[in-house]
Amino acid sequence: MPQDTLTITDNRTGHNYTLPVENGTIRAMDLRKIKTDPEDFGLMTYDPAFMNTASCRSAITFIDGDKGILRYRGYPIDVLAQHCTYLEVAYLLLFGELPNASQLKSWVDDITHHTMLHETTKKFMEGFRYNAHPMAMLVSTVAALSTIYPDAKNVHDPANRLLQIKRLIGKMPSIAAMSYRHNVGFPYIYPDNELSYPENFMNMLWKMVEPKYLANPVIARALDILFILHADHEQNCSTNAMRAVGSSQSDPFLATAAAAAALSGPLHGGANEEVLHMLDEIGSKDNVPAYIKKIKEGKGRLMGFGHRVYKNYDPRAKIIKWAADQVFEVTGRNTKLEIALELERIALEDDYFVQRKLYPNVDFYSGIMYQAMGFKPEMFTVLFAIPRTIGWLAQWQEMLNDPEQKIARPRQVWIGHETREFTPIEKRK
Ligand code: SDX
Repeated sequence: MPQDTLTITDNRTGHNYTLPVENGTIRAMDLRKIKTDPEDFGLMTYDPAFMNTASCRSAITFIDGDKGILRYRGYPIDVLAQHCTYLEVAYLLLFGELPNASQLKSWVDDITHHTMLHETTKKFMEGFRYNAHPMAMLVSTVAALSTIYPDAKNVHDPANRLLQIKRLIGKMPSIAAMSYRHNVGFPYIYPDNELSYPENFMNMLWKMVEPKYLANPVIARALDILFILHADHEQNCSTNAMRAVGSSQSDPFLATAAAAAALSGPLHGGANEEVLHMLDEIGSKDNVPAYIKKIKEGKGRLMGFGHRVYKNYDPRAKIIKWAADQVFEVTGRNTKLEIALELERIALEDDYFVQRKLYPNVDFYSGIMYQAMGFKPEMFTVLFAIPRTIGWLAQWQEMLNDPEQKIARPRQVWIGHETREFTPIEKRK
């Protein structure tokens, strides 16, 4: 019997089936051979929330949740965070190799010259209420870009795809900054092409009446590192949304808007904002034990803790803690840091969290750092969406180029009524 196989005995019929095992998986479609009679549809797998289902083959991001390993295209995340810029890592995620100097220069030039937004976008933004959540504004405005670039629907044209990808990477910070300026009632700031990606984002956020915005280099570098850490994370909820919407051949603006909508949920990218609300609710270090007790009684969740894949410390959280210290040197320590450190200290010693393998994830410290930089909590998930755009687009492109992929359409287990007699309305109770 060949080694890489699985033999299944169907005790309903006594029949045996031998299925090939490839990359630690069996093909779900192979289970359809397992029938009780020729009319039987055959077996399916039932896997709510895809806890144990691989939806694709990917070469972009590798995670080992037990060992706390995260690599982009084979490079460990801490090495990339230490030596690269975000746009350099974006090139790596998309093209599969680190760029040489001339490739990086033309890549950065291209992105820089796609930071402007069509003037109609400003009018579109004006339609939002002054207190509209920046994430909802970002999702809507990214979708609206589809109306400005109708050529984006040619998703099978590689050159067209690359143009839309550059547009999205270039324009995300501009849209994010506009949503912030709209919230605070300040005039929009146009991009400054002499600035780096993070510096220009800071310029569009925080420039007031000075002739030229001067970004604090420590804050700019910390933002760039945060962007690197958030760039991709294999088949997370929002990437799954990107692949599913993209599989129907929607254009990349609409697919990216769907992915950003998924990211906005408090269990996903919205967690960093919820962490700050949680720390505000706790109020002081002294209140941490009582709060932990409440969580252990099942009253809520420790936001920024736990992960579907990491059952060890999220490697990104470690790097964020290091970057936060650099930022606090400039901004002064965020008072909430003490509460977060105490929360982490107690949780990592408590059986409830240890047994469930709950460790701080990427969102636990990022919010504290963003707040120290001057961002309001409502902007935190927007700061996640900006860098994750390249991850979504690299995964979208990999899906389009994968000959095994087609429109995503899961099956279901039917638990509803069998056929019923129709009751005319006059006879209904
Ligand atoms: C991100 O997928 C990705 O890669 C995401 C991400 C990315 O880069 O794209 O890494 C970004 O989304 C990080 C996660 C941010 N979310 C949060 O911090 C919200 C709080 N954490 C969770 O709600 C939870 O941990 C999830 C959603 C992240 C993971 O949930 P799972 O894998 O579905 O785990 P589960 O809900 O089945 O929980 C298993 C057990 C349960 O207890 P029991 O029912 O077995 O008794 O652990 C408990 C849960 O109640 N649990 C928590 C908890 N997270 C899980 N208990 C308290 N606090 C928590 N945070």
